[in-house]
Amino acid sequence: MFVSENLGVNSAGNLTIGGVDTVELAKEYGTPLYVMDEQLIRKTLRRFHDSMKKYYDGKGEVHYASKAFSCMEMCRVVASEGDGLDAVSIGELYTAYKAGFPMDKVGFHGNNKTDEELSFALKVGVGHIIVDNISELHRLEAIAAEMNVKPDIMFRIKPGIDAHTHDFVKTGQIDSKFGFALETGEAFEAVKEAVNCKNVNLSGLHCHIGSQIFDIAPFEEAAKVMLGFIAKIKNELGFEIKGLNLGGGFGIKYLEEHDPAPFEVYLERVSSVVKAECARLNIELPKMFIEPGRSIAAPAGITLYTVGARKEIPNIRTYISVDGGMADSPRYILYGSEYEAIVANKANDDRTEKVTIAGKCCESGDLIGENMPLQHAESGDIIAVCATGAYNYSMSSNYNRLQKPAVVFVNEGKSRIAVKRETLDDIIRNDI
Ligand SMILES: Cc1ncc(COP(=O)(O)O)c(C=O)c1O
Repeated sequence: MFVSENLGVNSAGNLTIGGVDTVELAKEYGTPLYVMDEQLIRKTLRRFHDSMKKYYDGKGEVHYASKAFSCMEMCRVVASEGDGLDAVSIGELYTAYKAGFPMDKVGFHGNNKTDEELSFALKVGVGHIIVDNISELHRLEAIAAEMNVKPDIMFRIKPGIDAHTHDFVKTGQIDSKFGFALETGEAFEAVKEAVNCKNVNLSGLHCHIGSQIFDIAPFEEAAKVMLGFIAKIKNELGFEIKGLNLGGGFGIKYLEEHDPAPFEVYLERVSSVVKAECARLNIELPKMFIEPGRSIAAPAGITLYTVGARKEIPNIRTYISVDGGMADSPRYILYGSEYEAIVANKANDDRTEKVTIAGKCCESGDLIGENMPLQHAESGDIIAVCATGAYNYSMSSNYNRLQKPAVVFVNEGKSRIAVKRETLDDIIRNDI
């Protein structure tokens, strides 16, 4: 009935998430409101790590890509499942660190890490640093020498795979700001240098081919390319690469017509490709890492809004304006991303209208979506936008000096605040 499996309707006809009435949540915490379903987050993490055990003999780790949705409570949930974390800035590292996350299970990313970020990562003892470029390698070598540590590193490689997704989130191809290119020999030259570095240990290679990918074939192709490179390094340099990080990017269902491959099938097929290629190339089976972000956070989340104005423009369209917008839900204005929406207090009604849900920001493009099937919505109704758990809160802003909404976690019929709603004083906190 709805895109996300954790949504239902109760006897009052109200939408529920994880068994909690969304209309009551709106009343208790106010709107706009981000709601995250802890049980679904846990269930998805388990689907990934159980499949890793089943199909890759447990020789792997799942690192949740915290850029999708990061707050201390999320880090605690991931840690309690025994999974790792991908962090991409000192802010994400700090969040994990302060949440008590086991930092040796953190991979630190970024295409332009500062010295401060590298030092902080070493100080808190991250598991490995994914080095993006040669100048970063040089700076990290110097910082590690000064701190008298020898961190594990991986190299981020561009495997040259076209993942058939939106251009803005396609990162595995040569024209990308991320990583070392294979085709040009840049990656091999960097590896040659790294194997002789005294203060870093080249422990693995990494690639990430894009985001919201529905097919498994590009992931299989990327794995083959990466293993071919690992074999070349072994044959030509006599150096064994022990880790292979295949990144994230697994697609999810935002709309009914979306049909992503199940994660289990992904892990089964990719594991069998990796095993077959290792046997063929006569290389050791590497430890495998994956970095799912969206697939863990997005389906678990919804955003609740209160309807303000309803504006019917005859023969053109009907605008339903809500009390949030691009500041808390930036993906439509960024990528034209589509969502399912439901009038939470009329969840049993048919969606008889097609409307444009507009935000309250001072931009014409500030929309939650266009042509969205919806129940008849009027002022005071609560609208739930589904599968918003990834790349919304984490990309939110204070545009128009709007306060960022609260984040609430629901679990087994109960709710709790994970991130407080910003106050007006938060808005001016750093103003002089
Ligand atoms: C290196 C890396 N790993 C993992 C991810 C997470 O991707 P997704 O949220 O699509 O799973 C990203 C997203 O940009 C990424 O750049």
